[in-house]
Amino acid sequence: MTDRTFLAIVLAAGEGTRMRSRLPKVLHEVGGRPMVAHAIAAARAAGATRVAAVVGPNADAVATVATKAGADEIFVQADRLGTAHAVLQARAAIAAGVDDVIVLYGDTPLVTPETIGEVRAKLAAGAAVVVLGFETETPTGYGRLLTEGDRLVAIREEKDATDAERRVRLCNSGIMGLSGAAALSLLEGIGNANAKGEYYLTDAVEIATARGLSAVAVTGAEEEFLGVNDRRQLATCEAVFQARRRAAALAAGVTLVAPDTVFFSADTELAADVVVEPNVVFGPGVKVASGARIRAFSHLEGATIGEGATIGPFARLRPGAEPGPNVHVGNFVEIKNGKVAEGAKVNHLTYIGDATIGPKANIGAGTITCNYDGFGKYLTEIGANAFVGSNSSLVAPVKIGDGAYVGSGSVVTKDVPADSLAVARGRQTMIEGWAKAFRARMTKAREKK
Ligand code: UD1
Ligand code: CA
Repeated sequence: MTDRTFLAIVLAAGEGTRMRSRLPKVLHEVGGRPMVAHAIAAARAAGATRVAAVVGPNADAVATVATKAGADEIFVQADRLGTAHAVLQARAAIAAGVDDVIVLYGDTPLVTPETIGEVRAKLAAGAAVVVLGFETETPTGYGRLLTEGDRLVAIREEKDATDAERRVRLCNSGIMGLSGAAALSLLEGIGNANAKGEYYLTDAVEIATARGLSAVAVTGAEEEFLGVNDRRQLATCEAVFQARRRAAALAAGVTLVAPDTVFFSADTELAADVVVEPNVVFGPGVKVASGARIRAFSHLEGATIGEGATIGPFARLRPGAEPGPNVHVGNFVEIKNGKVAEGAKVNHLTYIGDATIGPKANIGAGTITCNYDGFGKYLTEIGANAFVGSNSSLVAPVKIGDGAYVGSGSVVTKDVPADSLAVARGRQTMIEGWAKAFRARMTKAREKK
């Protein structure tokens, strides 16, 4: 949209005591992705040229996740002295020189790149401070935006507000844009003479207006700025996230038979003309190609599904599951780290782990690849057009050649050459008349008692 440089500073130093968790608050997940990673992803999608994350002391786990999510620099805030103090920990990144600085919160995961783009547009138009606000029926706890016409005059924290100011319903989301040229001097002008004795980022507004710089508010929908302090709010965020993803999938040409029963992850990719039946869960890392059908009650994670494949009902695909084009994976089938080539069928009650299955192979009901001996994991390779009879155990490492047959109930421990038959089970013996004689003997014994 612009060639202005943009530094995003994501605040993630909060303790999150109300979560009652051993996990730092910003690592709790929405759509299977840590909250802080959502904020970083939104900043990146909005065109951030640099992303800095501010973490608390002893927050190595947060730093690791933030870096993996795309943060370029991590700054540690040793003492929690307030939001302005937190932003100033990234002083070096601001001082390096940048056009736009935008402060995001690691516990506010639903902000969209479009909204961040609106803040940037106001900065580009000359504002020194841009605050994202929202109207709400329940303003308690939020800072209030005090306006005069279009001008933003001040932000008043709840604890410092007069009764009249508390009645204001326009609230501070916490997200703030600062012009890079003015940012450091505004931040350095902030003191801590307030009810909490903290350095409030929100004071940047009054300082800017006092200096004759312009401060403006941009408003958005309340749900976009939901901040998470406790588990209930985490669940609310999850619900909003899921609703958005369902709407986006439908708009992109995916059929969801019962949208409210389908759960997405942040990185789920469904092509147009995928059909998803009711009660399906997409864990992280799933891609589904066009024309595939995910049938009811399936659970997928780390799986890549080919065009026209049918998965489920009641299938479980785990990381590394790759059913190719037109593959059928049926009920009560689990696949982990298994490539299933075009047109193959694995239809009933089967475990495929660490395996490759050739095109058009048929895997009978109850087949198990025995991939683990308590120490290592081993590969099972099944060739094109192979036919594995029901209730077979394939003890890896083992290969079933192209076009080979495995007799039902076999325990296969040796490689099977192409186009041959392997039968590995006890031979069937028949004793004629045995049952009749047995019944006669037992009946007589019972009569004697
Ligand atoms: C802040 C805003 C308030 C706004 C609200 C929106 C200020 C002074 N107030 O209040 O106007 O309506 O957010 O949710 O900015 N943080 C640090 N280090 C600190 C303090 C905070 O990293 O020293 C982080 C927290 O982890 C959190 C964010 O900054 O992600 C907000 O801090 P919090 O203490 O929750 O601010 P609020 O009182 O909610
Ligand atoms: Ca808060």
